Amino acid sequence: MIREVLRMGDPLLLLQAQPVSDFSALSSLIEDMQDTMRHLDGAGLAAPQIGVSLRVVMFGFENNPRYPEAVPVPFTVLINPELTPLSDEEEEGWEGCLSVPGLRGVVPRWKRLRYTGFDLSGKRLEREVEGFHARVVQHECDHLEGILYPMRIRDFSRFGFIEELFPQGNAPEEG
Ligand code: NI
Repeated sequence: MIREVLRMGDPLLLLQAQPVSDFSALSSLIEDMQDTMRHLDGAGLAAPQIGVSLRVVMFGFENNPRYPEAVPVPFTVLINPELTPLSDEEEEGWEGCLSVPGLRGVVPRWKRLRYTGFDLSGKRLEREVEGFHARVVQHECDHLEGILYPMRIRDFSRFGFIEELFPQGNAPEEG
C-alpha cells in the first residue's frame, strides 16, 4: 500500500528509531515502503518517513537514461544497520529527499564505508561500498537518527529548488 511520506517539520522525522527485534512482523511494513518508494520514484526510503520509528531502510537505483554516469545500486532492505567508514575521506554530492520535496543540496559524506545489517529473512548482510551507493546508505541511515540531509549541508549556496538549480531537468535522485 502506498503510504503518505512525512515532510520535514514533522516531529516524527526527528526521533531516534528503535531497533527491530521481531522480524516476523515486518513484511507488510516493507511492502508498504517498497510501494511508496517506487510510486514516488525514490532511490531510497526509511521507515520513519512513513511514520514507523523502526530501524529499517531500503534503497536501490537502476540504470537510468537521465543519469548515465550514475552507478546502479542493487535493491536492498537493511534492518538494524551499522555503518563504519573505511577512511576519513569525504566526498560532496547532490542529494534530495522524499521528505524534503522539490529541493536539492550538496552534502558531504564518507566516500567509502562498510555496512552491516539484516535482510527481511534475518540473514546478515555485509558490504563495502563507495560513491553513490555509500551516499544513499548514509542518507537513509541518517533518517534513523532523526537527521535530514539539510542538517548536514555546509555550503548553503548549493541548496535550493530543483527548477532553479537544474533548469535542464537533470536533477539528481531523491531518497
Ligand atoms: Ni531522505
